[in-house]
Amino acid sequence: MFLNASGELGGAERSLLDILASIRHAEPSWTLHLVAAADGPLVAQASALGVGTSVLPFSAAFSTVGEAGGRLTRAGLLGLAVRLVGAAVPVAVYTSRLRAAIRAFAPHIVHTNSLKMHVFGAWAVPAGMPLVWHLHDYIGGRPFTERLLRWNAKRPAAIVANSESVADDARSTLGARGPVIPILNAVDLQRFSCAGPRLDLDALAGLSPAGDLVRVGLLATFGRWKGHTTFLDAIARLPPDLRVRAYIIGGPLYQTADSQYTLDYLRGYADALGLTGRVGFTGFVTNSEQALRALDIVVHASTAPEPFGLVIAEAMACERAVIASDAGGAREIFTRGVDALAHTPGSAGSLATRIAELAGNPDARLRMGRAGRQTAERRFDRRRLASDFVPLYQRVVSEA
Ligand code: GLC
Repeated sequence: MFLNASGELGGAERSLLDILASIRHAEPSWTLHLVAAADGPLVAQASALGVGTSVLPFSAAFSTVGEAGGRLTRAGLLGLAVRLVGAAVPVAVYTSRLRAAIRAFAPHIVHTNSLKMHVFGAWAVPAGMPLVWHLHDYIGGRPFTERLLRWNAKRPAAIVANSESVADDARSTLGARGPVIPILNAVDLQRFSCAGPRLDLDALAGLSPAGDLVRVGLLATFGRWKGHTTFLDAIARLPPDLRVRAYIIGGPLYQTADSQYTLDYLRGYADALGLTGRVGFTGFVTNSEQALRALDIVVHASTAPEPFGLVIAEAMACERAVIASDAGGAREIFTRGVDALAHTPGSAGSLATRIAELAGNPDARLRMGRAGRQTAERRFDRRRLASDFVPLYQRVVSEA
């Protein structure tokens, strides 16, 4: 049984779908069930994979509480504390409803995929039933989350992290309470490949069709740390003779208050830089592989260390030239100068230099794209996920 807070398709949810697909394929006799705290495309796509699904909605009292917006001020911490106290009763009610849902399905194992669900899982999963936490985020630097997870870190039989970097963070923030196992994400190499339809990004963004130019795009949720403004600043610094058009692909996805940019803000930011008409905003796209294929250069611009950075692996699998932020788990995906270029996180100057380098060199883009595909085939084939998770599940079940 899998527990996930969001019903939308952020990276952690995409990763979960890949795990579900891989296990369905490797172990067709297993019965899989997903409980999500909100309805949405995650639930529909899990169901299409043959996974049973149910939606157990979070109370509004805690669905918008979060620490994703970076470091909190003292007043922010106080506000969060007040909201958490106000959420105590709804939290208790949710825990008991979740426990009833788990008992009804009676799984051999419960796998939680998001921070809130790690905590609810620790409280709701009946004693003796193994629980696996799958961490997709850094815990360090989020005081409440860190404390909540540390208090409950004895409960999971295993803790999985989406990169070595997130595993290191978990080891140091949670203390030595059992091993943290890094399992890098993987992608569907058939879907994410260079062959297939491409989205008309200009039409989606309402821009006039343009012929011969280099398309550079950032594909991400609107989390503030995804580096949208760094990307726009970098585009504004490009030499005027470079025929480049930029795209911001994606939208605000999560419910956590104040952690995301709005489309209006980013449009205004681009206009203020004089980029009107040179940057297209497509909104959220479902078929991200078709958006990636339509780009010549895929930029990953996170200003904080990226826990993993699924889009980097997806873009490599699509044979795109990639420029990624040189920090965190993202660094474990690529080899600098071979299958991607790296820039200093948050530095528009460093990013602009890299974009200019690749925009003016189609051969380098081609070489890099090919090397990226090879890396993806070697390391990020999602069939690997079943061979990573199945023995882990079997071990914790037999230990229980
Ligand atoms: C989260 C992380 C991202 C990672 C994804 C899948 O969204 O922020 O870095 O790629 O989970 O693990």
